[in-house]
Amino acid sequence: MSYDEPLFFQVMAYADEADRDVVDMVSGNPDWEPPEPLREGLREFADAPVEQYQYPPSEGLAALREEIAARRGVDVERVVVTNGAGEANYLAMACGLEAHPGNEVILTDPVYPYYSGRTEMLGADARFVPVDDDGRLDPADVREAAGDDTALIVACSPNNPTGAVYGEEVKRELAAVAEANDALFVSDEVYDHFDFSGRFFSALGCDSPNVAVTNAFSKSMAVTGLRVGYAVLPERLVGPARTRHMLVNVAGAAPSQHAVLNALRETPPDYYERNREMLCDRVDAFTDALDEAGADYITPEGAFYVLARFDDYPGTLDNVERLIDEAGVAGMPGEAFGTAYDDWIRFALVTPRAVAAAERLAEYFR
Ligand SMILES: Cc1ncc(COP(=O)(O)O)c(C=O)c1O
Repeated sequence: MSYDEPLFFQVMAYADEADRDVVDMVSGNPDWEPPEPLREGLREFADAPVEQYQYPPSEGLAALREEIAARRGVDVERVVVTNGAGEANYLAMACGLEAHPGNEVILTDPVYPYYSGRTEMLGADARFVPVDDDGRLDPADVREAAGDDTALIVACSPNNPTGAVYGEEVKRELAAVAEANDALFVSDEVYDHFDFSGRFFSALGCDSPNVAVTNAFSKSMAVTGLRVGYAVLPERLVGPARTRHMLVNVAGAAPSQHAVLNALRETPPDYYERNREMLCDRVDAFTDALDEAGADYITPEGAFYVLARFDDYPGTLDNVERLIDEAGVAGMPGEAFGTAYDDWIRFALVTPRAVAAAERLAEYFR
């Protein structure tokens, strides 16, 4: 298997090399501050005795797993601390494929591209279920697509790239479809703190043996570089996931886990509220400017992306590069996320210049 460089690296490199000022709305790297206790935790770790610089437990620091388990209302044995939601998704998918009959993975279209890439890497077959025009997933479509060969259903809510939030009914139905087909529903909840709709429902609430929930502190604490996430797995998958995690990584990074633990314990809820409100304001301002540009868009119910479509300007890589050169705004081509939204361009609102970018777009398309 050759190294398949994700498209967003290519777009970011193109934007970096442009001869003009470009507002980068490509990646999902938050531009706001982590919680102060997280920085304190890192500082504290720097002066820790040498023993703490050695291998932490492979499955994660005990105190961190306990803190996560208490917050999520699950048995601590089900929690495996991972290198971000990325590894949590990998473990859930790989172990789920091994444990369940069939070789098919149901994904949405548009899809977070790492799910489809991982499906291919694991030698499974992806089956895509298109979402509606407003980004919503109809679980009846998933039920219709699922069958004996379905081993996994993988979905994220709040969704990247559509911003849709799949509420309780949808999550319960996806869990039920997984149960009916002896499959595993992998519910990626990495954007759970960025729910603007009030409808977010964790799949843990389904209390189903056919559900694995994945999450991370990457986005909620604005630390994509620290690499701390976790999977809450059904009991039968815990052993295989711990083994796979250990054989690939030995263990996660001790300083990152220490800092996240301190932040979990010490961060007041208003840290998360402030960031959510700031993002809501950005969404409003950005979509107002998109109205001026005459663009179609999906108003996100959560996460921090806006999918937009401009008249006669499909979201191909060529057009995205043209937008960088001619408008000074870099987004992600819709074609990176599948076929259902390949006319669209995704803009990540993780820059204080989101409004300036939207004004540039309005001027360019006017
Ligand atoms: C839906 C989704 N899942 C997982 C990830 C990866 O998260 P992490 O950085 O914690 O590995 C991302 C990152 O953008 C994402 O959008």
